[in-house]
Amino acid sequence: MTKDESNLKRELATHCPTEWAHAARTRRCLLVIRHSALVISLLLFTAGCDWMPGKPKLADRWVPDTAVTNFAALYNTHCAACHAAGSRGLAAAHPLDDPVLLAVTDPAAFRKVIVEGVPGTLMPPFGEFLAGPFTDAQLDLIVTNIFAQWSRPQEFVGVKLPRHRAPPGDAKRGAVAYQTYCASCHGAEGKGGEKGGPVIAPSYLALVSDQGLRTTVIAGRGDLGMPDWRGYVAGKPMSDQEISDVVAWLASHRNQPITP
Ligand code: HEC
Ligand code: HEC
Repeated sequence: MTKDESNLKRELATHCPTEWAHAARTRRCLLVIRHSALVISLLLFTAGCDWMPGKPKLADRWVPDTAVTNFAALYNTHCAACHAAGSRGLAAAHPLDDPVLLAVTDPAAFRKVIVEGVPGTLMPPFGEFLAGPFTDAQLDLIVTNIFAQWSRPQEFVGVKLPRHRAPPGDAKRGAVAYQTYCASCHGAEGKGGEKGGPVIAPSYLALVSDQGLRTTVIAGRGDLGMPDWRGYVAGKPMSDQEISDVVAWLASHRNQPITP
């Protein structure tokens, strides 16, 4: 028995009979235990489960697509799979961080394509149904950020830019323009060469609009190693008319049957 215990025993013995003292101590002990349990559960109750590991944070909550106000989140979710940008790999459709594309187009036309999509191609109309539809504020956010982050107008000061939107020209003249500007890479017949793949394959043409072809001819595919309209023949940028004509020549192969 320790000194404290013997002191307590002595104290109890002097103040009350042994039996009574023992019973009182047991009751007091039980009371303390019960009270502490009550206090602990009350504390737990008022504290909630906030401290528990794995509790989802506010930021992790699901939010409707229309409530997303972060450009990167919108771009990554809705555009990057087709229009990869930056170092995120090769894009199936034209990369939207291409300063040449952003120099020849303007934000209003750009926004119109996003809202309406491009019928007959994979470009969906974001104004209509897909995941939203996007609110006006989200459309502004996307267009403003694409131009603010990725355009480089200073590089095009004094450069005569071709018209971005124009109807196709004359396919016969386009065949000539093709030989001048494109055949060196895509082969004399457009069926592919050493430096570029086939450009008249019906399976490719079925997926791309005439305007899409025009964008490629004007802006090239810097990400794939194709220069822009200024770089096909050194010192001889393509004229507006030549661009329209070569698009007509490419498009003239569109409805030709596939021959095995
Ligand atoms: C499923 C694939 C896909 C997705 C997703 C997609 N696009 Fe497109 N987009 C395309 C294709 C393909 C084209 C080219 C269509 C054509 O042939 O004219 C295109 C064309 C465009 C153009 C026109 C470029 C030009 O030639 O002037 C813009 C602008 C554009 N997309 C913006 C966006 C934005 C912004 C998003 C995301 C909100 C997006 N796209 C999502 C496939 C996609
Ligand atoms: C210096 C070489 C070079 C020249 C010149 C060139 N291209 Fe390309 N082009 C490429 C490469 C590389 C690619 C990417 C690989 C591929 O799809 O063939 C490409 C891709 C393309 C594509 C497919 C783009 C896509 O979205 O998949 C088209 C269409 C095209 N070129 C048309 C043309 C036309 C029309 C001309 C002439 C006005 C031209 N190219 C001149 C190298 C060139």
